[in-house]
Amino acid sequence: MTGKLRLGVNIDHVATIRNARGGVHPDPLRAALIAARAGADGITAHLREDRRHISDDDILRLCDEINLPLNLEMAATDEMVEIALRHKPHAACVVPERREELTTEGGLDAARGHNHLAPFVAALRDAGIRVSLFIDPDPVQLDAAVSLGAPVVELHTGAYCDAEGEAQAAELQRIVDAAAHAARVGLECHAGHGLTYENVVPVAAIPTIVELNIGHYLVGEAIFVGLEASIRRMRELMDEARAP
Ligand code: PXP
Repeated sequence: MTGKLRLGVNIDHVATIRNARGGVHPDPLRAALIAARAGADGITAHLREDRRHISDDDILRLCDEINLPLNLEMAATDEMVEIALRHKPHAACVVPERREELTTEGGLDAARGHNHLAPFVAALRDAGIRVSLFIDPDPVQLDAAVSLGAPVVELHTGAYCDAEGEAQAAELQRIVDAAAHAARVGLECHAGHGLTYENVVPVAAIPTIVELNIGHYLVGEAIFVGLEASIRRMRELMDEARAP
């Protein structure tokens, strides 16, 4: 089975550049419109507790003014759930969040965090928002997602992307096994974090993964080739990996 692989373009770091100077340029909304033209299937944005990149106003405008589904990445907090319920994005991806981290440095511990996460997952799901949990490629975490009633998981690909040689092959195998496990237990499987032109193909080739969320590398490449071209190239590599 080699169905189409969706690309969610994460536009957080367009906002990072904007915020470096304050003001309104470059506008993440404009990036979202370009992403749509370049073949993205959705837009992903992480509203962090400290608002270091995406702002509340960005979320409002992304919900109101773009035609692609929005995947809101959010911590499991009362504040974020209240915002999600107000805007009702197409999807919400629950991520772990620590103020001092540079980026999301590991998956959620859905197994040990079950009691904390359960009411947040239920509130989002009851509002008709497609909930995913950002977890490490670990069967214990996948089973915990099932018991929490989350229909979707996003596998954290950071360890695979950071590794080299045999260690990278081992990390890839963990993702392959986790994606197969997700299909067996009825979870829709996504993946993301740290993906680049160099490392995306083996992940994109995994047939039970249906969506990749990619941001930092695309925005970085956009400096050299423009955002539309950087996204189009990623789209091509994903489609080639998926070709029968
Ligand atoms: N998926 C999730 C859940 C994330 O938190 C991030 C980073 O914000 C990404 C995907 C995208 O990672 P990157 O910016 O490294 O492509």
